[in-house]
Amino acid sequence: MTEDSTERAKGVVARILARTGTALESTQGQDHHAQAGELEREARAGTRRIQGLSNDLEEISEVEYRQVRLEKVVLVGLRTTGTEEEAENSLRELAALAQTAGSQVLDGVIQKRSHPDPATYLGSGKARELAELVAADGADTIIVDGDLAPSQRRGLEDVVKIKVVDRTALILDIFAQHAKSREGKAQVELAQLEYLLPRLRGWGDSMSRQAGGRVASGEGIGSRGPGETKIELDRRRIRNRMAKLREQIRRMEPARQAQRANRSRSTIPSVAIAGYTNAGKSTLLNALTGADVLVEDALFATLDPTVRRTQTEDGRAYTLSDTVGFVSRLPTQLVEAFRSTLEEVGEADVILHVVDAAHPDPIGQIQAVHSVLDTIEGARDIPELIVFNKADLASDEQRAFVRSLSDRAVLVSAVTGEGISELQTVIASMLPRPREVVDCVVPYTHGALIHRIHEEGEVLLEEYLGEGERIRARVDGALAAAVRAVALPLQGEAQSAASEGIAEPDVVAPAEDFE
Ligand code: GTP
Repeated sequence: MTEDSTERAKGVVARILARTGTALESTQGQDHHAQAGELEREARAGTRRIQGLSNDLEEISEVEYRQVRLEKVVLVGLRTTGTEEEAENSLRELAALAQTAGSQVLDGVIQKRSHPDPATYLGSGKARELAELVAADGADTIIVDGDLAPSQRRGLEDVVKIKVVDRTALILDIFAQHAKSREGKAQVELAQLEYLLPRLRGWGDSMSRQAGGRVASGEGIGSRGPGETKIELDRRRIRNRMAKLREQIRRMEPARQAQRANRSRSTIPSVAIAGYTNAGKSTLLNALTGADVLVEDALFATLDPTVRRTQTEDGRAYTLSDTVGFVSRLPTQLVEAFRSTLEEVGEADVILHVVDAAHPDPIGQIQAVHSVLDTIEGARDIPELIVFNKADLASDEQRAFVRSLSDRAVLVSAVTGEGISELQTVIASMLPRPREVVDCVVPYTHGALIHRIHEEGEVLLEEYLGEGERIRARVDGALAAAVRAVALPLQGEAQSAASEGIAEPDVVAPAEDFE
């Protein structure tokens, strides 16, 4: 991207809003954000994008597969109800999402209208205006800030003569680019197909085809029944693919459950990283655990590379898991596809909520994440730590602002490492502590048990005696029972020390609310 076009992208939201009679109160912070977007586009351009669908669908040619593949986009918003501020925020979010997807935002229009036009979404005059703007800018895609009925999209495409996608398609594209695990990829593809199925259409003469024409020319298809139209055939293929994906996801479920059960049986506390898309969750996961951390449980490695096991400075083990990125108004297809992943957040002991400190509207992002968390059973009762990330991109004002939001919030940079050790200390203080205290001598012959106490429990005192290791530790109930079954009684002095009072475990309170 040239410097010129980056400059243009930065000013575009302000320009669109100015045209509708409102102006941004502040554009501060956008420069930083644009730079971050640039880095990210470079990082993701080559590797992360899912190139088309799997083989089963490669032959679909006469219909569009709306992989957004955005280059130069124009945004379209409709203001029906709501305040100007809401319209501004919504447009700003759409522009940021478009940039996250790797596109260059050229321009946009907002129309004030009591309801969307049933045929072309925008009114016919505004739609013609949009067509002129698109032609003048050389845009290749229009992104509508809302949900389009298939017929409205077709109607608008026929006027503007370029591809029109809606907010859901854009978000699906971002998720497709970011999906990391095998399960995550299958989940996103399923959501994409679910979205695509009712929207298949033949390409009109006015638009170019996106794929080759093997199917159209009748090659390679043995199953095509007499009179079956191309679209019906495509629908059937898509349904088959969806059934396969569902099956694949279903087959991963027992492994996921086993993994979950494993974690809860061993009572290793779990921390779930949640946050708005692009806040830096994965980068922070790496910063907290070290990129080369050995993943001990093979299941984690094959099923979900985003769960890591790590430990506090004082040696308590815990798991850290990355979750799907959140956005406001998360498309229902995605919520459904990611249901099982999201449910895991509801079972975590601590939620690490990552927020981009350099974003122009961090509170809006926090609220968007909270509204997704609200849909997950139990998630809002879990202690939450807000972590403002990208400190290296934040201005002094932004730093002061995010610090003023909460005493408990931590400011870090997953890239430079600033604040990471402070964050580790705060996480350690929030992890639940095992409630039972054992104080006994474990014979040296039970080395595995001693190891487990160190791993899962919190060792308060240890002493090497002739007959075994004396350990005073906090452990969970099951481990306490295992220890007591083999322990030797304490003798003399050790006995009286053991009877001293031990403080109650700390109780962790939920973080304050931002709503
Ligand atoms: P989703 O998968 O969409 O949910 O994204 P994510 O929250 O996992 O974000 P990710 O870790 O992929 O980071 C997004 C972009 O921000 C990447 O380009 C990172 O390099 C960048 N990034 C993350 N943390 C920092 C930071 O502390 N400073 C800077 N400058 N960039 C960061």
